[in-house]
Amino acid sequence: MRHVISPQDLSVTEIERLLMLGDDIIARPEAYAESARHRKLATLFYEPSTRTRLSFEAAMLDLGGHVLGFSSQEASSAAKGESVADTIRMVQCYADLIAMRHPKEGAPVVAARHAKVPVINAGDGGHNHPTQTLTDLMTIHRELGSLEGLTIGFCGDLKFGRTVHSLIAAMRRYPGTRFILVSPTELRAPDYVLDGIRASGCVCEESRSMEAVMPDLDVLYMTRVQRERFFNEADYVRLKDSFILDVPKLLHARPGMIVMHPLPRVNEISVKVDDNPHARYFEQARYGKYIRMALILALLEQGKEGAIL
Ligand code: NCD
Repeated sequence: MRHVISPQDLSVTEIERLLMLGDDIIARPEAYAESARHRKLATLFYEPSTRTRLSFEAAMLDLGGHVLGFSSQEASSAAKGESVADTIRMVQCYADLIAMRHPKEGAPVVAARHAKVPVINAGDGGHNHPTQTLTDLMTIHRELGSLEGLTIGFCGDLKFGRTVHSLIAAMRRYPGTRFILVSPTELRAPDYVLDGIRASGCVCEESRSMEAVMPDLDVLYMTRVQRERFFNEADYVRLKDSFILDVPKLLHARPGMIVMHPLPRVNEISVKVDDNPHARYFEQARYGKYIRMALILALLEQGKEGAIL
């Protein structure tokens, strides 16, 4: 049984095939309108979400399937003290597939260990967010035409940002990726993420200046400072506005450079950037539904002849 807990659970070839399937779903949505008929997706969200949960649900509905689930810890028996393992034992009786978000790193691994249906990690603490990564890869692939030889700048909270950790783990597998990491010292990427880049042989540079690196970038991946993962509010307030992208900073960007953000945006991208030709973050959110449709189909069909997984 295949689960998707981290981006490395999918090979580069499997990702390529998922991206192709996503492209085909965008081109011919009607061909997939009944593909998950009578199948059920459970969305178990122990942490807030707008895009991830709703795009999972929209994806399942557009495949002709059904959704059930909860959108907060308080709305589930977790509030009464039920363990993740016990919740999963229940939910697998009611659904064919589980998408789960949890504040604790590793919770989806526990879930997968107890599940007889595929589990998708929809974000675990500051650790991983593989379906956001698939969304990001689809955005880069569709907007820039390739995933190889790109210089990608990550800016903001690289310590707690799980979308950053997951996308780095995915991009370091493509030849010629050059990483430029821009963050305050306190919010540098964790050592395990930096070690992973070094081991891959990809180039990795760190900077404290967005302006200085701007002309080098093919992709600028902005992130929100992750307030909910700070131990004290004073540190958050001190660091929250460290890097703000505005239109003047983009004057030094290459013509084809794209600005991405997993969203939600708080203050780190001026709303004036929204109409700028470099901005792609709303398109990125739109791709999220299609790539989740592809992943749901691949997991439901897994093991069958010609299946992706
Ligand atoms: C991200 C997340 O939850 O990690 N949001 C998302 O899923 N698109 C990023 C964030 O919350 O800052």
